[in-house]
Amino acid sequence: MFDLDLIKKVYSELPERVKKAKNVLNKPMTYAEKILYSHLFAAQELAAFNRGADYVDFAPDRVAMQDATAQMALLQFINSGKKTTAVPSTVHCDHLIQAQVEGKTDLGVAKDINKEVYDFLESVSNKYGIGFWKPGAGIIHQVVLENYAFPGGMMIGTDSHTVNAGGLGMVAIGVGGADAVDVMAGMAWELKMPKLIGIKLTGKLTGWAAPKDVILKVAGILTVKGGTGAIIEYFGEGAKSLSATGKGTICNMGAEVGATTSIFAYDESIERYLKATGRAQVAELANGVKADLDADAEVYENPELYYDEVIEINLSDLEPHVNGPFTPDRATPISRMKEVAVENGWPLEVSVGLIGSCTNSSYEDISRAASIAKQAEEKGLITKAEYSITPGSEQVRYTIERDGFIETFEKIGGKVFANACGPCIGQWARPGAEKGEKNTIVHSFNRNFSKRADGNPNTHAFVTSPEMVTALAIAGRLDFNPATDTLTNKNGEEVKLDLPVGDELPTKGFEVEDAGFQAPAADGSGVEISVSEESKRLQLLYPFAAWDGQNITGAKLLIKALGKCTTDHISMAGPWLRFRGHLDNISNNMLIGAVNAFNSETNKVKNQLTGTYDAVPAVQREYKAAGIPTVVIGDQNYGEGSSREHAAMEPRHLGVKAVIVKSFARIHETNLKKQGMLGLTFANENDYDLIQEDDTFNFVDLVEFAPGKQLTLEVVHTDGSKDTIKLNHTYNEQQIDWFKAGSALNLIREQNV
Ligand code: F3S
Repeated sequence: MFDLDLIKKVYSELPERVKKAKNVLNKPMTYAEKILYSHLFAAQELAAFNRGADYVDFAPDRVAMQDATAQMALLQFINSGKKTTAVPSTVHCDHLIQAQVEGKTDLGVAKDINKEVYDFLESVSNKYGIGFWKPGAGIIHQVVLENYAFPGGMMIGTDSHTVNAGGLGMVAIGVGGADAVDVMAGMAWELKMPKLIGIKLTGKLTGWAAPKDVILKVAGILTVKGGTGAIIEYFGEGAKSLSATGKGTICNMGAEVGATTSIFAYDESIERYLKATGRAQVAELANGVKADLDADAEVYENPELYYDEVIEINLSDLEPHVNGPFTPDRATPISRMKEVAVENGWPLEVSVGLIGSCTNSSYEDISRAASIAKQAEEKGLITKAEYSITPGSEQVRYTIERDGFIETFEKIGGKVFANACGPCIGQWARPGAEKGEKNTIVHSFNRNFSKRADGNPNTHAFVTSPEMVTALAIAGRLDFNPATDTLTNKNGEEVKLDLPVGDELPTKGFEVEDAGFQAPAADGSGVEISVSEESKRLQLLYPFAAWDGQNITGAKLLIKALGKCTTDHISMAGPWLRFRGHLDNISNNMLIGAVNAFNSETNKVKNQLTGTYDAVPAVQREYKAAGIPTVVIGDQNYGEGSSREHAAMEPRHLGVKAVIVKSFARIHETNLKKQGMLGLTFANENDYDLIQEDDTFNFVDLVEFAPGKQLTLEVVHTDGSKDTIKLNHTYNEQQIDWFKAGSALNLIREQNV
């Protein structure tokens, strides 16, 4: 499945590229820098980029997409006119499977309910040379780790936990669908040169401590924002002592501290994992360029000279942590949980323990958890809480079944859900959750925000390692410290749990009957894409119309948004997510969360055609039907939040021509440009105050649209008075071409035919 030629190419170029970069940087390089500088886009000039400041064009090696985000990404990609993706890409069906009864049953239900989405993803994958991982094959990040991640590589994925692949020494970054489309269409991928945080691990994990505790501890130190805009690079003897999958767990939850990604250098445990997962050839190739799959020695001698921040953690002192509730950075060592839980009034009774997910379902994780589960039976203990397992892949599930672990879990009442996200993404039909009762659950996932797992805002979810989840589920108490506390068994005897034990890799090797992979057609040109005209969830995209070359005139104000207007305000999530593959249907959420500056209400704006007030999408649809262009006015940092491209596509689809704001969040500004919209800023921020509810706008000099040249806007008020204001923009030549062509994809398509 993995692309050996691609890896050969990366490794054959790596030493020379690193050498060139080192000449320019004139200093020793960290591992992350070596990967970044060896993945510059062809047209990007090599320079010593300023970390945290310069925007740089990169050329990632791979793209991975999960089924929820892949829909809009692929709908757009279809419009690029490309015959196949420019880099190897995969689709993984993992987010849409609800955990209810048990794996097989739930998978059957999901295949039924999501048939049209799966059929669509399968047909597009088949047509454009994309690897397709069927529902039930596993969770994107575990499947990527087992098959595609490789040291020294760079990938992007349409899911925040793409960063998991850092465990195998890859720079792997979570992005929005629009970025995936760019890379699949052969365009550059832009990223602000990340800052670097170095975390030195000394010592060795002992007792109940697991790799998960490293990141739970780091989350406590850095908090959910501390890693923002940075790559976290782990190093030191402690790093080498961890398994590759343990490294994956640590990198996975780098997303929880906001890090761009996290990474470990290539070492023996990564080599062992590559070999165990059928990639001995990759390991051999990696061994040939070992020096460049690690930082230069000088970096480790004086890390504070090369990283923006350095943290040191002694693994030998690390004790198990239980983080939560409601936020993953609230770190409590288990020895302190008794007092902290009581102080905060957290329910002490654990009602459910859940292990698995993309974060923690390696063979090592499962075997260590099973070693605890086994003791329950041997020591005559009755498991107090419910217990479930969501394996990360079919390969893991098959192997742990073969090795008897599933049977062990079932003996303590464990339920095995499908190899999918399930409860981790709220796809959990938890009986009674609707009652909203205060309760505690413990899981080995990564996120624990309110309502995430079961929709109940009163569920206190705590994150910990799989072995700790198992111990707490058996004890049924959040404050149970297995290192010191005893439990009473069914004979009334006090018993103590022994330390968890497990195998880093299966001694009999991994095994699987059907991994769930479907290779694309060798020639996909004849493959039909499956989308029903009647579908409510999917809609093929039409190319947006090119600019007519005229100044936009007679445009009406749709909304003047007041204050914070994030991508959530522009395109809400929640129940709307089911329409993410249907642009027209999801457009009914356009700007419904934005506050109207004239009445301070949301989703209530004046329709200048009728003088009445109505919902934003409804008013905009009337303007569109009447052929009247519109303008959206916004405040500071408009479009902050996620990189969701829907926030730019919806106004484009409904006929908004320009978004004029005091300032933009950069990703959203770029997304607007890609969709062929005008994203402009007031040259004088106070001009925001000039905009009235009944205004009409005329662009005076759009025909002269050029890089670095201000645009002029005439604002006509109802009393006949006019203001002429200046607008700034950041469009370069190419982005102006996107605007003229109607979208970036239109331009690519023109170039492809
Ligand atoms: Fe899925 Fe949860 Fe991971 S949603 S990809 S298992 S973070």
